[in-house]
Amino acid sequence: MSLLSEPDLGTPAKDGPATVSLEIDGLSVTVPEGTSIMRAAALGGVEIPKLCATDSLEAFGSCRLCLVEIDGRKGTPASCTTPVAPGMKVRTQTPRLEKLRQGVMELYISDHPLDCLTCSANGDCELQDMSGVVGLRQVRYGYEGENHLDAPKDASNPYFDFDASKCIVCSRCVRACDEVQGTFALTIEGRGFESKVSPGAGELFMDSECVSCGACVQACPTATLQEKSVVDLGMPSRTVLTTCAYCGVGCSFKAELRGDELVRMVPYKDGGANEGHSCVKGRFAFGYATHPDRKLNPMMRESIDDEWREVDWDSAIAYVATKMREIQARHGAGAIGGITSSRCTNEEVYVVQKMVRAAFGNNNVDTCARVCHSPTGYGLKQTFGTSAGTQDFKSIAKSDVIVVIGANPTDGHPVFASRMKRRLREGAQLIVIDPRRIDLVRTPHIEARHHLQLAPGTNVAVINAMAHVVVTEGIVEQSFVRERCEEYEEWAEFIARPEHSPEATEEITGVPAEELRAAARLYATAGNSAIYYGLGVTEHSQGSTMVMGMANLAMATGNIGRDGVGVNPLRGQNNVQGSCDMGSFPHELSGYRHISDDAVRSVFEDLWGRELLAEPGLRIPNMFDAAIHGTFRGLFVQGEDIAQSDPNTNHVTAALRAMDLVVVQDLFLNETAKFAHVFLPGTSFLEKDGTFTNAERRINRVRPVMAPKPGKHEWQVACEIAQAMGYPMEYSHPREIMAEIAAVTPTFAGVSFEKLDKLGSVQWPCNDKAPEGTPIMHVDGFVRGKGRFVQTPFVPTRERSTRKFPLILTTGRILSQYNVGAQTRRTKNVAWHPEDVLEIHPHDAEVRGISDGDEVTLSSRVGETTLHAVISDRMPVGVVYTTFHHPVTGANVVTTENSDWATNCPEYKVTAVQVGLQNPVPHLNHEALSIPALAD
Ligand code: SF4
Ligand code: SF4
Ligand code: SF4
Ligand code: FES
Repeated sequence: MSLLSEPDLGTPAKDGPATVSLEIDGLSVTVPEGTSIMRAAALGGVEIPKLCATDSLEAFGSCRLCLVEIDGRKGTPASCTTPVAPGMKVRTQTPRLEKLRQGVMELYISDHPLDCLTCSANGDCELQDMSGVVGLRQVRYGYEGENHLDAPKDASNPYFDFDASKCIVCSRCVRACDEVQGTFALTIEGRGFESKVSPGAGELFMDSECVSCGACVQACPTATLQEKSVVDLGMPSRTVLTTCAYCGVGCSFKAELRGDELVRMVPYKDGGANEGHSCVKGRFAFGYATHPDRKLNPMMRESIDDEWREVDWDSAIAYVATKMREIQARHGAGAIGGITSSRCTNEEVYVVQKMVRAAFGNNNVDTCARVCHSPTGYGLKQTFGTSAGTQDFKSIAKSDVIVVIGANPTDGHPVFASRMKRRLREGAQLIVIDPRRIDLVRTPHIEARHHLQLAPGTNVAVINAMAHVVVTEGIVEQSFVRERCEEYEEWAEFIARPEHSPEATEEITGVPAEELRAAARLYATAGNSAIYYGLGVTEHSQGSTMVMGMANLAMATGNIGRDGVGVNPLRGQNNVQGSCDMGSFPHELSGYRHISDDAVRSVFEDLWGRELLAEPGLRIPNMFDAAIHGTFRGLFVQGEDIAQSDPNTNHVTAALRAMDLVVVQDLFLNETAKFAHVFLPGTSFLEKDGTFTNAERRINRVRPVMAPKPGKHEWQVACEIAQAMGYPMEYSHPREIMAEIAAVTPTFAGVSFEKLDKLGSVQWPCNDKAPEGTPIMHVDGFVRGKGRFVQTPFVPTRERSTRKFPLILTTGRILSQYNVGAQTRRTKNVAWHPEDVLEIHPHDAEVRGISDGDEVTLSSRVGETTLHAVISDRMPVGVVYTTFHHPVTGANVVTTENSDWATNCPEYKVTAVQVGLQNPVPHLNHEALSIPALAD
């Protein structure tokens, strides 16, 4: 076992109140009922040799190394598969056991290449360790007989190798893939001597169902499955505990280094969000941090048509400050603003919004959450009183029904998806509400009970119809509603109207009424029902309405305030929750308190020594509009590629072009930097020191693995710009920024770096009432007092399919890539997704003469792009789908400026488009292209 490994107790923990006492090697041990003898021994300080057992997997009992003797029992049972019993007397070391174990090891070693000294796992190999532990001194059987020493190596995966010659067929990899990841990509093929691990029938890993999560690599006790980085660089020698910077799951990792070089990321067993699991991005896709494309020096240019020239930090900061002040002098204090990034730490985001409010002297600060989860903020605040998911991830283990709406967890939130799949395999029921047949609908050992394949843009009609069923069929949780909620009567009268019935809405939504009724009944009556949702809910013109619709349904059925239930946004970016919490919206200070509230404002004014405007500032789309009108002329953009990620790219770039000063802080010269005058190099997560807050409100520490490559931390840069503009802002360490956040934000009052270092993580609210945080919200009452039912009339989107644009485009993500791909495109993850493609239904393809792989034109009323077509029946007829990970595709060139009525979150999920062959064949039947509009 490597020096960096965490203790392995052999089999998973059992919990429960009942305990059992027994004696192991004369030591008295008391453990929870159901615990294995192996684990009980380990807890008592006695290590029993093992190979096929590890505490992240259920015991399997194949290697026969962990045999023990038990008084009064015949034979030598395996300690990993034998549960403890009261009064048991166990012996783990006897001459008989020693001999048996040596015999087992002899057999293993006689079929194993003895190249330990040059093996990449030298020092981190359990086979090597066990040879020593059992006292193996000789191997009587030579290599003359049949063996596997020439078994072929599979190096097809870009991140790990499979060297079958070293496999001991312990099945840990197979079980990790099944139990932990839930992909079932591996099997043990053959029997006896012939048995071998196989990723599908004779396939290579890269051709198999494998999603490269690395769980099998982590579980493998030998060098059979091994990270290529370990083979190339050698065993790591030190470790730093930190947090993944990709998605909102917020997995904890041990960054393992050799000297200053990062060798591998190992998911941390005690990580609250991931409990030792990871996905391909967090575990393997960190190479972008040292990619040669990274810019490490500040750069400037007078005009965006000039070449960049490198400058020192002082010159860049002085230029930004002077130019921002000049713009304000000429065009007014409100002519400048800033955008914070959900990729950055809470501390980095907090100082940027403070820079805008206190140094710029206006509230023109917004965040990239504007384009993803701003409707969550609005909708959950209106109904529950605060903008956050209600549960911790663990809660799903208690769910009886899981509803997934407009989310694709296996691609977008893979580690949480693995938890979800585990619960579904245990028997929970699944309802998927999505126009696209996402993988979860049918995946090994899981089948959705209902897939409501609605037409894009009709979420609200579907959720209203579900609530209609609950109210009109009398399955409302009356006591919950009576005691915990308000405005129910008015809402119930509204929702019971005939126009909300499944039958009345069937034509609009495309969801068969009977199926919708069955799904609603299941949700309302099956015990604990939980809703998990994603951008397929929020990125609509009625995103906020839909969030309130889901909250209404959860309250009406009493599915709030305990384990296994709730309404939970699956946040996209690593710190989207945190960037919202930190006061990044123009109308809200940290902790979601309105800027117009005098009492709240005065807390900040006292501490910051500046008077703050009571009026909300500009949102991102308003900034763009104002830039085009000439009234907004200076923008600081922290780590967000708005030119690629925001809708209607042509409008965004026109706005950027119109400004006098665009400052971009990022790792790479991104698409937005093409329109920038100043580029400030940012830091990767490996250099950051601070905190991220994940989708379950969990505040995790991000610890620096290396010094900031540009020579400055991002929070220092914001402070220096503020100072250069005449506003003193200084901290000596990010822990001081967190201390300030805690001082001004009631929900963070109990948070400190010291506490996070001690507890690992906490979920806000964390304050005097909940000093160790709050895993589940609204337990005894809602944050706003009573949960509020809000009427949610369905208003069809203005974006309709027409004769000219007969298809509806909807967008999403893929597992191996991340958002605009700035990071993942600079890693070996491109092996899986070298380009964005357009998924199109066979019928829609056929009438357009499109074949699989053809280059097609995708056009909407605002723009046009080209992609390759993939024929797929995942979408219904009339709906096409693409991702937006590659700038060359420019998928957002076609998305429109339609947006959520309450928050301006763009309507990415519904765009009327036409698709045509790049070079149409002459016989194409153009008449057939006019398909009846879907959303009418
Ligand atoms: S990497 Fe993950 S998905 Fe692939 S075989 Fe291993 S455990 Fe299964
Ligand atoms: S690949 Fe590793 S984990 Fe899988 S059976 Fe072989 S030795 Fe065990
Ligand atoms: S699930 Fe998300 S947070 Fe976890 S490793 Fe993958 S990308 Fe990182
Ligand atoms: S560790 Fe118990 S049988 Fe392998």
